[in-house]
Amino acid sequence: MKIKINATALIFILIFTACQKEKPIIEIIDSSLAFAARQYAGMAEVMKDKPGLLPRTIDTTGALITSNSGWWTSGFVPGSLWYLYEYTKDDKFRGYAATMTSFIEKEKYNKGTHDLGFMLYCSFGNGLRLTNDASYKEVLLTGARSLSTRFRPNVGCIQSWGSRKGWQCPVIIDNMMNLEFLMWAFKNSGDSSFYKIAVIHSDTTIKNHFRPDYSTWHVVSYDTISGKVEAKQTAQGAADGSAWARGQSWGLYGYTVMYRETGLKRYLDQAVHIADFLINHPNLPEDKIPYWDYDAPGIPNAKRDASAGSIMASALIELSGYVDQIKKQEYLSVAEKQIRSLASPQYMSKYGENGNFILKHSVGSLPANSEVDVPLTYADYYFIEALLRYRRLLGSI
Ligand code: GLY
Repeated sequence: MKIKINATALIFILIFTACQKEKPIIEIIDSSLAFAARQYAGMAEVMKDKPGLLPRTIDTTGALITSNSGWWTSGFVPGSLWYLYEYTKDDKFRGYAATMTSFIEKEKYNKGTHDLGFMLYCSFGNGLRLTNDASYKEVLLTGARSLSTRFRPNVGCIQSWGSRKGWQCPVIIDNMMNLEFLMWAFKNSGDSSFYKIAVIHSDTTIKNHFRPDYSTWHVVSYDTISGKVEAKQTAQGAADGSAWARGQSWGLYGYTVMYRETGLKRYLDQAVHIADFLINHPNLPEDKIPYWDYDAPGIPNAKRDASAGSIMASALIELSGYVDQIKKQEYLSVAEKQIRSLASPQYMSKYGENGNFILKHSVGSLPANSEVDVPLTYADYYFIEALLRYRRLLGSI
């Protein structure tokens, strides 16, 4: 039996087949970075009228919300601008980044937060790496000393938040993200106390923060005198026993970095266990962008958290460099899928929209009804980082 296909049908089939082919990942990466540069140049121009302030998110009308330097996310936009300077080599980005970075300097004396790694290392740390400006080094070392004052020797952790009812010494999994800053301080000062704090904190966190399946509690609180665990709970997750998505990504990223910085195999093992828990999780959606909590009520209609996806992608790309070929391919295929998803119209903004942020659909704290389904600075920062890391990797294959 002969099947007749007319010319129009044939053209349709050819176009349809061509559209089904995935674009090469390098094209997605380069177009996303070019878009990020255009979008953030627009944001930096808007911020010229708001000296001392840093972008944070947008409100329900789409208007930009800013923060002062003391808010935990203050370092991310300066950090993204440094990354974009690294990518474009355009001095315009160096200028934008240096100006916004300077707004955060006073936080080097801030002993009231554990977030100094996010605030200072993403901004001044990237700035130092790219410019070698000696004044940045002083800011970073002073900041690292301030962060170290929050270490509680009898607990074996850096205290995250202040004491409150039921929590004498709360430590959150997010705190693993501040240790890269301390490891930098160790290497650049020769002061081994920075190394000891980072390693003791990581070991205490392995012992007390993780469940047998390698998911993590959000908050573990300790008795300040005995050092014993007094509570395992959540602040931003769906339930005490749930796997809050960003917390899982922070843990994955944190142990990957601690392995890179110390070479201690127990941190690599921990990162691999976390990665395997996440990528095999039955509630990780097809596009690999997590729901805001892996145990969120209402899945599959629960909100996604693009920030959990971008942090996870960046961490998986780095971790893929420390494992065997089979795992490497497994981790890279998830990270690549995450990049493709985040770069799609579902998550990526249109030019000039979304308060000039790059990604849509992140969740700050759903239980507090704060920053739900909005752009967030750290989703963008780790997305750009993931793009740069994957680009570097492709160049080296
Ligand atoms: N450290 C705060 C957060 O991840 O929301």
